[in-house]
Amino acid sequence: MVSVLFVCLGNICRSPMAEAVLRHKIAERGLTRQITVDSAGTGNWHIGKAPHEGTRRILDANGISYENMAARIVRSSDFEQFDYIVCMDQSNGANVRKVAGGEEAELLFFMDLLPHEKLREVPDPYFTGNFEQVYELINAGCDVLLERIIHEQVE
Ligand code: 4NP
Repeated sequence: MVSVLFVCLGNICRSPMAEAVLRHKIAERGLTRQITVDSAGTGNWHIGKAPHEGTRRILDANGISYENMAARIVRSSDFEQFDYIVCMDQSNGANVRKVAGGEEAELLFFMDLLPHEKLREVPDPYFTGNFEQVYELINAGCDVLLERIIHEQVE
């Protein structure tokens, strides 16, 4: 079993969108039993909440389920539990490292999956309101990530 954790700030906009999109792609490939996905935030404001309305709307428009998803905070045990921890921006990465304490964890940054994009961080739609732009980036990046996982891990 391979596991992926997406991390953003509030765990209501970007990382839950990535969680739902990647899980959908995994199901389409028949890999549900090989790869698990979760998401978490570094801030505690929205713990227990469903994804933001903007995220829900774009997932609905694309026929992607977000059932039973609730925001949670990132925890140090995530570093033992997950194979891939993918941060949406540099600030998420810095905050995640603090939670990790002394543990070594290899972090990925989402936009490193899309090296040809000018943007180097996934813009926060909580502030920009542009959920469409974020969906396009997340959809493209999740394709790359899934191929990479299949290549590296799934037999
Ligand atoms: P996210 O967006 O990190 O993509 O979930 C945010 C959601 C909430 C807040 C900030 C960013 N907030 O400040 O409450």
